[in-house]
Amino acid sequence: MPDDKHIPALRMVDVSKIFARKTLDEVKALDGVSLDINEGDYICMIGSNGSGKSTCLNVIAGVFPPERGGKILIKDNDVTNLPEYQHAKYVGRVWQDPSVGTCARLTIEENLSMAVLRGRTRGLHKAVSKSRRTSFKEALEPLGMGLENRLTAPVGTLSGGQRQALSLIMATITRPVVLLLDEHVAALDPKTAQIVMELTDMVVHRDNITALMVTHNMEIALRYGSRLVMMHKGKCIFDVAGARKAGLTIPDLMKAFEKEAGEMLHDDSTLLVSAAG
Ligand SMILES: Nc1ncnc2c1ncn2[C@@H]1O[C@H](COP(=O)(O)OP(=O)(O)OP(=O)(O)O)[C@@H](O)[C@H]1O
Ligand SMILES: [Mg+2]
Repeated sequence: MPDDKHIPALRMVDVSKIFARKTLDEVKALDGVSLDINEGDYICMIGSNGSGKSTCLNVIAGVFPPERGGKILIKDNDVTNLPEYQHAKYVGRVWQDPSVGTCARLTIEENLSMAVLRGRTRGLHKAVSKSRRTSFKEALEPLGMGLENRLTAPVGTLSGGQRQALSLIMATITRPVVLLLDEHVAALDPKTAQIVMELTDMVVHRDNITALMVTHNMEIALRYGSRLVMMHKGKCIFDVAGARKAGLTIPDLMKAFEKEAGEMLHDDSTLLVSAAG
């Protein structure tokens, strides 16, 4: 038996996903994806619109199961057909839209309480103990946004950047096996996007979190993370890590795309967004 350290944090085995099967709109969003995410991997996932990035994250998060034959293993536990709330024990998630990851009507501390209980209960527990309040303050302080002094403020009163930063803390407070980030800075203005991206990088490194981050921004994909995965038409077509990832340039990515996808990338608009989107 391999020891625990050598078991991948997450394993996708031959995962496919077909939408609108047997209709004119049928689409193979994922096409036999096999991907091992090792503990400590910090993956940037890029790919054109509709290449299957969000579907990949949705399958990992248990939003829907893959087609028969595919498997999702989290730390060797087969979660393939478990409902979404059972995946939540292992998976933290931040979405593109700041309003999705947090509840506007509830306060900061109530949102954090729900995050702490995520995957353990489906009920709403709003009671916040004194010790928990102290731990929330400690979790929020490093963001440098003063949120630790606004625990009883409704989340609806926060800015988009503050909400994304709070979502990040909510997604990581229970130390998930894998953190999923789906273009989580794309809806923010460039300056705020940069701040939230730096905070993400700080939290991922500080807590040694295993992360899978989707981005449309090649500059972000090159600057952050320890591994880069490129999706195209539901397949994972390029996967580099370590020194090879660190030495990549935008022309390298364009070349890799053309070589692996067998298509010319006439301009970089499908993969690259120049601002921090
Ligand atoms: N719930 C769904 N029902 C039907 N089709 C879907 C659904 N979700 C995704 N698709 C289709 O599956 C394909 C892959 O979509 P997906 O959202 O995974 O792409 P993506 O790589 O995240 O794209 P983007 O960069 O635009 O976010 C697309 O053709 C999309 O239209
Ligand atoms: Mg997407």
